[in-house]
Amino acid sequence: MSPRQASSPPLAISGTDLAGMLSTVTALVTRFLDDMPRGPAFDDADQASFMADPSVRQAPGEAGRSLVELLNIVDRAGRIGVNVIAGNSLAYIPGSGLPTSAIADLISGIFNPYTGVGFAAPAMVALEHDVIRWLVDTMGLPKQAGGLLTTGGSMATLSAIACARERHFADKDFSAARIYLTEQAHHCVAKGAQIAGFQQSALRLIPTDRHLRMDIDALSATIRADRDEGLQPFCVVANAGTTNTGAIDPLEAIAAIAQEENLWLHVDGAYGGFFRLTERGRERLRGIEHADSVVLDPHKSMFLPFGTGCLLVRDQGALRRGHGAQQSHYMRDLGDDRPDDFATLGPELTRPNRGLRIWLSLHLHGVAAFRAALDEKLDLAAKAHQALLDVPFVQAFGEPELSIACFHCALPQATLEEENRATEDLVRLVNDRRNVLLSTTDIAGRVVARMAVLSLRTSAETIDRAIADISIAATLIATCSGSGARDVRSGYA
Ligand SMILES: Cc1ncc(COP(=O)(O)O)c(C=O)c1O
Repeated sequence: MSPRQASSPPLAISGTDLAGMLSTVTALVTRFLDDMPRGPAFDDADQASFMADPSVRQAPGEAGRSLVELLNIVDRAGRIGVNVIAGNSLAYIPGSGLPTSAIADLISGIFNPYTGVGFAAPAMVALEHDVIRWLVDTMGLPKQAGGLLTTGGSMATLSAIACARERHFADKDFSAARIYLTEQAHHCVAKGAQIAGFQQSALRLIPTDRHLRMDIDALSATIRADRDEGLQPFCVVANAGTTNTGAIDPLEAIAAIAQEENLWLHVDGAYGGFFRLTERGRERLRGIEHADSVVLDPHKSMFLPFGTGCLLVRDQGALRRGHGAQQSHYMRDLGDDRPDDFATLGPELTRPNRGLRIWLSLHLHGVAAFRAALDEKLDLAAKAHQALLDVPFVQAFGEPELSIACFHCALPQATLEEENRATEDLVRLVNDRRNVLLSTTDIAGRVVARMAVLSLRTSAETIDRAIADISIAATLIATCSGSGARDVRSGYA
C-alpha cells in the first residue's frame, strides 16, 4: 500500500495553499515540456509495468495521498504512448498542445465561469463571442454568421447536420432526404448523420477525380437523378482538406450547385480550414466563404490542446433553431430572449470556458504567429514530397494541397497486393525506429503511407529524419522482396 498523507488538503483550498501546490505542478509540466521534444515518437517501455502496478491502478482511498506521489504517477502516464509534444508524429492528424493555451484551462478551472448562459458570465461569454467573430471573419462568412465552440470536429459536424435538417425539414418526415459527400469525407459525417436520425441510404457517395476531389458533374447528375426519383436532396458536404491526403474539393463549383439546388453547403475544414490564414491556403480554399456551415478544429490546425472544435453557421438563427432551444421552468428568471447564450446555440447547457483557450493564445502570440506556423507546415509538406520523389522503391503521390505528403512502395513487377503489404511493412519498420511515427490509409484498395505535417514542433530535421528512415526501409523491403525473404524486420536495426 502506498503511504497515506496524515492531513489531506481541504476541498475549499485557500489561494496560499494552492500556490504551494502549483509550484510543484509547474515543476512537473515545465520538466515535461523541456524533456519531451527530445523524446521518441512513441514510447511504450513503461506501459506494461504501469498498467500492472497496483500502487497506480487502485481505487481512491478514504484519505488523500500526497500531491508529489500523484504527480509522479501522472508524469509516468504522460510519457507513455504517442509523444504529442515532440513534433515527430506524422501519423493521422497530429496534435500539438500549445502550452500557452493550457494556461487558459488552469485559469478557467479556478475561476469556473458558467458560460452556458450570458447572465452568469457576461464578460467571458463576450470574449468567446469575440473569438467566434474572428473565426467568422477569417473564413469570410457574413456578419449575421455565428458559431459555437465544441469538444471537437465530430460534435461540430453532428450539430451542423442537425441545423441543416431543421432548416429543410423542421418537424416533417425526412426519410427521403439525401446528403452528398465523397468517400474521402471524414467518417464523423456518417456518424453524425446516423445520430441525427438518417438511414445509411441517405448518404450518397459522389465519385472523385484523380486528385480525390469531388466530381462536380457526377454531383449534379446524382442530384438530378435523385429528384427524378422523388427523393429530397438537401445537403452537400465538401472537404476543405481531407484527413487522408489533404484534398480540397472544388468549393466554388460545389457552392454554385448548392445554391442552384437549394442545398445546405457544409464544409469540413476541421483539418484544413485554418490554412485560410495563409496566402496559399486562402487561394486554395476559395469558396469556403459560401458555406452554410463550416467545421474547424482549433485542436488541430491552431495547435491547441485536444478538446476544442468549432462550428460556424452562416445564419446564427439556424444554430438556435437546429438545437431546439426551449425554456426550462427552473431557468425562468433568465427570460426568453437570450439569442447569444451558448446554451441556446448548441446541445450543452453547462460547458467549459472554451473561448478563453483560443482568446488567450491568439492575443498572446498574435495572428501572425499562427499564420507563420501554418505556412511552415505547407513548406515542410512540400519538402517531404520533393524528397519522396527521390526515394528509391517509393512512389510519391501528387504535390500536397495542404500539409499531408503521401506515398506507397513501388516494387518492380509487384502486384497491388504485394505493394500494399510492402507499404504496411515500410511504415512498421519506420515506426519501430521511433524517430518518427507514420500511418497508413486505404485509397481505392491501395495502401498509402501518410506524412501528416501539422504539429507545432515538426521541423525540417523531422522531415529529413523521416525521409532517411523511409529510404532505408524501402531499400530493405525491395532487397528482401527480390530475394523472396518475408521477414524484413529482422534486417533492420
Ligand atoms: C477532416 C476531419 N474532419 C473531422 C474530424 C473529426 O474531428 P474530431 O477528431 O475533432 O472529432 C477530423 C479528425 O481527424 C478530420 O480530420
